[in-house]
Amino acid sequence: MKNKKIMVTGGAGYIGSHVVRQLGLANEDVITLDNLSTGFEAAVTNGDLIVGDTGDAALLEKIFATHDIDTVMHFAAHTVVPESVANPLKYYRNNTASSCTLLEACAKNGVKNFVFSSTAAVYGVPDGGRASEDSATQPINPYGTSKLMTEWMLRDLSTAGGPRFVALRYFNVAGCEPGGTIGQSTPKATLLVKVACEAATGARPGVAIFGTDFSTPDGTGLRDYIHVEDLASAHLDALTYLRNGGESSILNCGYGRGYSVREVIAAVERANGQKLTVSEEPRRAGDPPELIAVAERVREVLGWAPKFDDLDTIVSTSLAWERKIAARDSGAYWAA
Ligand code: UD1
Repeated sequence: MKNKKIMVTGGAGYIGSHVVRQLGLANEDVITLDNLSTGFEAAVTNGDLIVGDTGDAALLEKIFATHDIDTVMHFAAHTVVPESVANPLKYYRNNTASSCTLLEACAKNGVKNFVFSSTAAVYGVPDGGRASEDSATQPINPYGTSKLMTEWMLRDLSTAGGPRFVALRYFNVAGCEPGGTIGQSTPKATLLVKVACEAATGARPGVAIFGTDFSTPDGTGLRDYIHVEDLASAHLDALTYLRNGGESSILNCGYGRGYSVREVIAAVERANGQKLTVSEEPRRAGDPPELIAVAERVREVLGWAPKFDDLDTIVSTSLAWERKIAARDSGAYWAA
C-alpha cells in the first residue's frame, strides 16, 4: 500500500531542503509549505512548493482538503538567537503561535505522525556542558523557549489523542549535500562554519573567534557539529519509527563529541589549502563554553547510523557550496 503524503513546512530552508531531498530519494510523496522569507524556491528539489505561511489557518485547511496528508514535518521557524532576544514576540508569533495553528489543523485533519525540528537551545547552559534528553530544560533566550513551548504543545496534544511525534533537538548543524545540489544560503550568516567558509572564499574579510578565555582545552567554545545529511536522515528514521507505531519521543541530534572554534577554523584552512584571517574578540553574549549532546538515545530508539561524523567532511562540503555561491554558479542559489 502506498504511503500517504508528507507535508514539510520550511522545506525551502537549509535543513528542511535536505530532508525534502532525502524524502524524494526514498520515493516519498512530499509537499512543501514555505513562505520563502529565508528559504529558496530552488532548494525544493522534490514535490510541489506551496508558498504560504504555517500560521495561515485558511491555507492549511485548503491544503489538508486537497492532499491526503498523514505526516507533517515542521521546520518553518526563525532561528537567529540574538534576534530572538531583541524581538521576542517575532519568535513567539512564528515559532510558537504558528505551530499552534498548524497543530490545530493537524488534529482536525487526523494527522498521525509529526516530526518536529527542535533545538539544543532548550537546555540553556547544561551542567558540565553535556545535555541528555533528561537534562533540565532551561532556555536562556526566547528562541529556545519558543521551541520548547512547541514541544509542550506536542506532548499535551498527543496525550489528548493527537499525532504521535518525534522532536529532534539539534546541536550545531553544518555542512551541505555532498553532491553540491543544495546548501546553506542563509543571508547574514552568524554560524561559525558558514562564516569561516565565507572568509575562505573572500566573501568576508576574515573570521573572529568570540572568546579565548573559556575553561576549555584551547580556551575557545566547544560545540557538537553534526552534518546536515546525517541530521536529515534522522528525520527519515523518525518517520519510519512513527509509521511502525513508535511512541512519542524527544531525541538529541549530535555526535556526542565537541570541537573548539580553533579546531573548526583549522579544518576550514585545511579544506581551503590556505590560512584565514583570524581575529580574537571578546566572548559573545550568552555563549556557553561547551554544548555537547549525550547522543545515545537517537541511535537506540531510531536505529540512526550517521555517515558523515567527521569535521573535515563537514567543512569541505560547506566550503564547496560557498565556492559555488561565490562563483555565482547557476547551480547555486544566493540572496541578492
Ligand atoms: C547554534 C544554534 C542554536 C543551537 C546551538 C546548539 C543558530 C542560529 N544557533 O548556536 O540555536 O542551540 O547551535 O549548540 O542556529 N563563533 C565564533 N565566531 C563566529 C561565530 C561563532 O567564534 O563568527 C563561536 C561561538 O562563540 C561558539 C561557536 O563558534 O562558541 C559556535 O557558534 P555558532 O555557530 O554561532 O552556533 P551556536 O551559537 O552554538
